[in-house]
Amino acid sequence: MNRVALAFSGGLDTTVCVSILKEEYGYEDVIGVSVNVGQPKNEFEQAKETAKEISLDLKILDARTDFANLCLDSVRANASYQGYPLGTALARPIIAKAILEEAKKTKCNALAHGCTGKGNDQLRFEAIWRGSGLEIAAPIRDLGLTRTWEIQYAKENNLPIKSGNDGIWSIDTNLWSRSIEGGELEDPSTIPPSSIYEWTQSPSSESKLVTIEFDEGYPVAVDGTNYSPVELIDHLNTLCGPFGVGRTDVMEDRILGLKVRENYEHPAATALLNAHSALEDLVLTKEERKFKISVDDAWAEQAYLGLIYSPFMEALNGFISTTQKRVTGSVTLDLQGGHARAVSRESPYAVHSASAASFNTPGVIDDITQSDAIGVAKYHGLQERMSSALFDSEIPTTQNKK
Ligand code: ARG
Repeated sequence: MNRVALAFSGGLDTTVCVSILKEEYGYEDVIGVSVNVGQPKNEFEQAKETAKEISLDLKILDARTDFANLCLDSVRANASYQGYPLGTALARPIIAKAILEEAKKTKCNALAHGCTGKGNDQLRFEAIWRGSGLEIAAPIRDLGLTRTWEIQYAKENNLPIKSGNDGIWSIDTNLWSRSIEGGELEDPSTIPPSSIYEWTQSPSSESKLVTIEFDEGYPVAVDGTNYSPVELIDHLNTLCGPFGVGRTDVMEDRILGLKVRENYEHPAATALLNAHSALEDLVLTKEERKFKISVDDAWAEQAYLGLIYSPFMEALNGFISTTQKRVTGSVTLDLQGGHARAVSRESPYAVHSASAASFNTPGVIDDITQSDAIGVAKYHGLQERMSSALFDSEIPTTQNKK
């Protein structure tokens, strides 16, 4: 039996794929698989309805906990790519892995997705699938299909086109972010209309303090209440969205080189990333902080590529885990005007002494006194003083010749 497991959303692309996989590719049996990573409930209702109408056997798998755990790993890595906290990117390997497991369980010999040949998702899915030995079919990309062609094909073949299939924006929602693209937003000069936002409100002057507790870099509680990873992210989205926290508008360099204008909203991600880095500022040493920026950057890049299960990622996670042993404590954020600004941080591992840094205490720490700095001050800038530039009569104060 020639059986294929298709990543199914109930949208136009994947609905058309079901029929093409049978007619053009010759698969006798198509199984639709939808993976729950926190999409709105109505998306599953739509998928179920469409599946019923086209007699597709549909499996819905719940991967919310796996996904939330990965999102919180990304917080430890302060992960964002060009300003975007990677909601779609992090979800794809989780979805691909769940579909692969289902395909093996149901004895499929092939896997299929409805991605185009222009985006990142085709690469993220296949990075997980290609080692499996199963065939891979990507009808929209392989046959170069356009949306206009698909609509025509759906009409001719009596396939259901649900409202939303042909909406103005292309929207991808999960627990970590809502991403909105397409339509007039494709033009970088278009100011996004407020109607694109669902999770965030336009910033006002209202404000609220929220305290987030971390244990080894993982957020565990909000305002004194412990939450599971899924609940914590959900709760912070609801709490921070009304203050306009977590809207980004970026020119994104996609994997294949295309530059695409993308809009996102991600209140919980922004709050958690800001709070986490504020805590790291308190507990990590200067050298750790400096080096971790490049580790974090590499982590985000790998995650954007969909390569979260790579040996490189494992190595990066090793460094991150070591540093996170001391990232325990709490941070209070001030939510206001679209910002989630850290206004207070505490930790038993602080590399900080209030009295050492204070203007009001004579000593520094242990037996170090202020006057011990005299020798350091004498040496400081020694090479600069010795360099010929400084022996010139006139020392320039600015480069600005305008
Ligand atoms: N460009 C982003 C990424 O590749 C998100 C794309 C989301 N898709 C959408 N239909 N809005 O990670």
